Amino acid sequence: MFKALIAGLALCGVAGVAFAEPADGRKVAQAQCAACHDVGAGAPARREGPSFVEIAKMPSTTELSLKVFLRSSHRNMPNLILGADEVDALAAYILELGGKGRS
Ligand code: HEC
Repeated sequence: MFKALIAGLALCGVAGVAFAEPADGRKVAQAQCAACHDVGAGAPARREGPSFVEIAKMPSTTELSLKVFLRSSHRNMPNLILGADEVDALAAYILELGGKGRS
């Protein structure tokens, strides 16, 4: 099951790359992630999770790792429901924060 998920995500990643806009990802991050993460613009006071800059700079963080993470379980936040476009945009935004963006 997990391998199939990864394979499917890899395909989606290839197809979806051209449309993912970091600016859209920033909006989603501010709306849905800022309660627990420093999302890079206007840091919230309360932070349960690592900042997005820290996440982006981890050697293990790639477009695929982010997409897999965001479409699977997220400990401590069971109600997070993201559309495929939002996942793509968030991944693009986080990678850009870490200097791994395509632009
Ligand atoms: C309810 C609090 C909460 C919200 C909301 C939240 N997160 Fe998290 N997040 C956490 C915590 C706590 C961790 C660290 C523990 C873990 O990995 O689950 C984490 C970890 C992560 C990681 C993994 C870092 C690693 O170690 O690989 C990513 C990526 C991430 N969050 C992205 C997001 C994104 C994108 C959103 C918004 C769509 C979001 N989070 C919203 C609490 C939250």
